[in-house]
Amino acid sequence: MTPVNVALIGYAFMGKAHSNAYRQVGPFFKPRLRPHLKVICGRTRAKVEEAAREYGWDEASTDWEEVVARKDIDIVDISTPGDLHAPIAIAAARAGKTVLCEKPLANTVAEADRMLAAVEKAGVIHMICHNYRRAPAVMLAKQLIDEGKLGEIRHYRGTYLQDWPADPKFPMVWRLDKATAGSGALGDLAAHSIDLARFLVGEITEVSGDLKTFITERPLQGDPRKKGKVTVDDASIALVRFDTGAIGTIEATRMALGRKNYNRFEINGSRGSVAFDMERMNELEVYLGSDPQAERGFKTVLATEPVHPYFKAWWPAGHIIGYEHTFIHTVYDLLEGMADRKQPSPSFVDGVRNQRVLAAIEKSAQTRRWVKV
Ligand SMILES: NC(=O)c1ccc[n+]([C@@H]2O[C@H](COP(=O)([O-])OP(=O)(O)OC[C@H]3O[C@@H](n4cnc5c(N)ncnc54)[C@H](O)[C@@H]3O)[C@@H](O)[C@H]2O)c1
Repeated sequence: MTPVNVALIGYAFMGKAHSNAYRQVGPFFKPRLRPHLKVICGRTRAKVEEAAREYGWDEASTDWEEVVARKDIDIVDISTPGDLHAPIAIAAARAGKTVLCEKPLANTVAEADRMLAAVEKAGVIHMICHNYRRAPAVMLAKQLIDEGKLGEIRHYRGTYLQDWPADPKFPMVWRLDKATAGSGALGDLAAHSIDLARFLVGEITEVSGDLKTFITERPLQGDPRKKGKVTVDDASIALVRFDTGAIGTIEATRMALGRKNYNRFEINGSRGSVAFDMERMNELEVYLGSDPQAERGFKTVLATEPVHPYFKAWWPAGHIIGYEHTFIHTVYDLLEGMADRKQPSPSFVDGVRNQRVLAAIEKSAQTRRWVKV
């Protein structure tokens, strides 16, 4: 059990999820490297100090540059808005740290390329947090596909629907500002569907996409009488072609009233189908053409058996897990990668490829043409 010191930049939504992951991974997974919650970083001293107390970090800081340069830090975890991913990751790589970065990797392809070049030049371990890959049911879908149980994959249908800013009175926040977030539903939500498509089906080679902003102005947070301009998409849709010959659709929106975290995919192959919905994340719907005809039909597999990926570390079968566990699994794979000095996936290479698909959808929406990735 070798301790490794973590510096986490960002203490809010993902800061909380990642803090929990570093705390839980040790007792449940017993990784050879044990994360020590050394320093958490944000902008507002009182708030970051409160987060440090609540989540169990030794220290609080408001200066990421100083934190990233510290000799006693082994892992830099980037849980900030997109505009800070590149500067923090590049500084961390240059300082020789392992880097875990939230998605999308960057706000532009150029930034993502620079981040990948920096980690490769420094020879450090790098990972992007596409945590949905690490739901055991998603891993089971991957196993079935890799074993050929679904045959040749023909369709990927990814839908990621939310509704949090559907009310026009919802204020301007960083996620609605292109300079900070890079894009809207596209980079925030479709990036996850693209990652799952790449993980489960293959590389996306060509896209035809559209983007739409339904609510173009919103009240400012400090002064609701004033309005700010929304500079990102509320919704994105794309037809995609894969290098394997499969075709697909990827739809992401923040305007699907009633849908909270409807991250769903369905995959149809020549011999069977699978479907997954994050809001029922312990289950995988499976249809196998190889089942006897009289018994054929979609069945719901509860992916909580000890044979299902990651589940042995948790509870007896049927004792389900949740959203936060996907981050614990991510951190576990990062730690094992560090211990074996082997690059875990998804890495910054995946981040860059994902970013190129996002950029192609954006370009296709602007030019109203198919765009090669
Ligand atoms: N993997 C997932 O499922 C998932 C879910 C939500 C968000 N995300 C990604 O995580 C990242 C963060 O999103 P979030 O929802 O946690 O945002 P958030 O607004 O909840 O938190 C952002 C954090 O960044 C910190 N921050 C901003 N500027 C800073 C600076 N200059 N120095 C230090 N800290 C700074 C803020 O203090 C805050 O703690 C984004 O890239 C987002 O796309 C991923």
